[in-house]
Amino acid sequence: MSNRESTALTDRFGRVINYLRLSVTDRCDFRCIYCMAEEMTFVPRQQLLTLEEMAFLGRAFVELGVSRIRLTGGEPLVRRNLMSLVRDLGNLDGLDELLLTTNGSRLDEVADELVAAGVNRINISLDSVQPRRFAEITRTGELHRVLKGIAAAQRAGIERVKINSVIMRGHNDDEIMPLLEFALERGLDISFIEEMPLGETGRDERKGELVSSEEVRQRIGEYYPLTSSNDSSPGPSRYYRIAGSDSRIGFISPNSHNFCESCNRVRVTCEGRLLLCLGNEHSVDLREVIRTSPGDMGVLKAAITRAMDIKPERHHFYETDQPQVVRFMNATGG
Ligand code: GTP
Ligand code: 5AD
Ligand code: SF4
Repeated sequence: MSNRESTALTDRFGRVINYLRLSVTDRCDFRCIYCMAEEMTFVPRQQLLTLEEMAFLGRAFVELGVSRIRLTGGEPLVRRNLMSLVRDLGNLDGLDELLLTTNGSRLDEVADELVAAGVNRINISLDSVQPRRFAEITRTGELHRVLKGIAAAQRAGIERVKINSVIMRGHNDDEIMPLLEFALERGLDISFIEEMPLGETGRDERKGELVSSEEVRQRIGEYYPLTSSNDSSPGPSRYYRIAGSDSRIGFISPNSHNFCESCNRVRVTCEGRLLLCLGNEHSVDLREVIRTSPGDMGVLKAAITRAMDIKPERHHFYETDQPQVVRFMNATGG
């Protein structure tokens, strides 16, 4: 029997929220140029939600009708004892899917355990298939480890492993086809992502390096006819197919195609801040709620339900020259 309540989480615009992205840490072993500045300060450990508090939060959301939880970071796999949270969430009645977005660097060691604990799908960032280029974009990453992680996720039986590639002009726009071929050869799904202006990463040329999904599609179209597909995921990707391949080719276009009207998600940061939109600062401090009324599920659920009233209608990326959101992506949870 599920504990789900009939009153689903609904915002002022009639959007039903059934998807939670939970950032378990803002730390990461990489420093990707589109995500972080070279020098970063991270949240002090004592300010983090404990894994038990995160499990409690997850339960509250699921009882309020959330059917998918995606664990994000920073890099989720650097959080110590993460597996205990994965197991707790994996055991929740009413949760249809437990998902993970990772940089893949440590996946090789834990892929089997993650699957055993209930993870259904895994998305892995990969912006280059050239070792030196990969090291430049991630600043500290090693390609061979991520490749091992991708293979491990497939071996562990994850049904659709998805690659995320943020395409930036002058950095990796010459790798659109190699990344696509990499995915096709291995039966992986792939999403090409437009870079979002989150946080002062120190790359002032970010706007000028934007490559639209339309351009990526055109470039691929010179080699393979792309057929628009009805495939859907819970997220903002629009999918295409290539004849003879099982891979789904997704495009996430926060700048060129606003998908906010169908937004079904909210985020919780590793400090317990409930973010109602990736591109706005509207938030509610759930850590305060949990720590003021420990163990009180009713109070927590009421706070979450009330928060739906401040979910903004949409984001406004690149409508001004300044980043509208100063929060870095690693603090937001992707
Ligand atoms: P699915 O759950 O399978 O749909 O995954 P996803 O592709 O949404 O999630 P993933 O964590 O792999 O994120 C891929 C990219 O989509 C990242 O750059 C995210 O920041 C972006 N993204 C995810 N959700 C949203 C959203 O609500 N708004 C915007 N603007 N971007 C999002
Ligand atoms: N714009 C778009 N995507 C981003 N990601 C991180 N920072 C940005 C950004 N500024 C992506 C990563 C990862 C996912 C969680 O978010 O590539 O795959
Ligand atoms: Fe780490 Fe992901 Fe940010 Fe890269 S994009 S620095 S892997 S959190």
